[in-house]
Amino acid sequence: MKQDMIVILDLGSTENAQLARQIRELRVYSEIHPHDITPKELEKLQNVKGIILNGGENRIVDGVAVEIDPALYHCGYPMLAIDHPTAKCEAKLPALPDIALLKEFVFDTCQAQANWNMKNFIEDQVERIRQQVGDKKVLLALSGGVDSSVVAALLIKAIGKQLVCVHVNHGLMRKNESESVVEVFQNQLKANLIYVDAVERFLGKLEGVADPEQKRKIIGGEFIRVFEEEARKLEGIDFLGQGTIYPDIIESGTKTAKMVKSHHNVGGLPEDLKFELVEPLKQLFKDEVRACGLELGLPSTMVYRQPFPGPGLGVRCLGAITRDRLEAVREADAILREEFEKAGLDKKVWQYFAVVPDFKSVGVKNNARCFDYMVIIRAINTVDAMSATIERVDWDVLGRITDRILTEVDHVNRVCYDMSPKPPATIEFE
Ligand code: XMP
Repeated sequence: MKQDMIVILDLGSTENAQLARQIRELRVYSEIHPHDITPKELEKLQNVKGIILNGGENRIVDGVAVEIDPALYHCGYPMLAIDHPTAKCEAKLPALPDIALLKEFVFDTCQAQANWNMKNFIEDQVERIRQQVGDKKVLLALSGGVDSSVVAALLIKAIGKQLVCVHVNHGLMRKNESESVVEVFQNQLKANLIYVDAVERFLGKLEGVADPEQKRKIIGGEFIRVFEEEARKLEGIDFLGQGTIYPDIIESGTKTAKMVKSHHNVGGLPEDLKFELVEPLKQLFKDEVRACGLELGLPSTMVYRQPFPGPGLGVRCLGAITRDRLEAVREADAILREEFEKAGLDKKVWQYFAVVPDFKSVGVKNNARCFDYMVIIRAINTVDAMSATIERVDWDVLGRITDRILTEVDHVNRVCYDMSPKPPATIEFE
């Protein structure tokens, strides 16, 4: 790492990530490390300009307050202690230092240079990836999501054709999504891309399966099997690229905090397929991942893509998936996205999508009775997806979307808007 770095030692504060972000916003790189890091390990990090000891709510582990290695006090690094030994009291204490104090510590006391930016980050990672990988090959499951797309672009820049991307089209992608993965990565970035058309295979396995959990298991399990089959066909692959990002690592638990959720990855690959991981984004927050993607030349539609569940449209075509309803979900979703973009809502609303339930209602089309499906539109805002409120979409916008869906999408005679917050509803329907 060429950039100067401020290390935050985790003494149980839940605000560590926010503090790291604040420092990075000052254009100084910052990382969180466990409280028991040794002077030797710290030295290995290179360019450490100062240390912040950030104590907090979880400092007491098994009745004992965690402490740093006392040898660190004699290593000559400037230190700033932000501690709340009274954190157990009722009042919420200010958890983050005043920004002026932080600036004074970072720039005056530590003499750190404001040299953290995406250009430097990319240069640095390209060098590290080349060092790690050498002349070996890296395999990457490229879903087209933000994280895997940015990892792919970064790996292509670092090692070009030594990266082998596998894109599995499971038939549950949104309109033109697989096509755009091929266009951007194969045609524009000249990636070594294996496109697997597994549409029939997935839809075959899902036929008649109505239970949401069962559907998710089939889609997830089948994805691993397809990826494994492709991996076995290849020779001389030693590394597996992954779009792990900083929140994944923080949420997997620290020595003081309890685990929030298990670290997600392309888990489930058989034991005999052993790969060393390449995770070049593992120190970035989501907005930094997006900035990195833009810097690497990815289109903003890909970089600002809204969250999309792994099982894709499979959990939005409710109950047992049928091809006609799946197409209706896909077409309605495309119209919704187009109209949200025209109305400027794509930048404002956190997540919006269409759902098609597996029952019909009576309607009238061309002067005759019809019995067709309905499209339910959902648009929500949230910070962390744990709770959500609905977007109060303008009636005119909803009217235009409804008109287009009713005229352009086959087998649909009704459009509804979901007014339910989370809780009690979840964001997705299945
Ligand atoms: P729920 O429905 O639980 O959704 O309120 C919360 C957020 O998670 C997304 N989601 C998923 N993301 N794999 C994913 O990567 C999944 O299986 C999955 N299920 C839900 C959902 O779209 C929402 O943003």
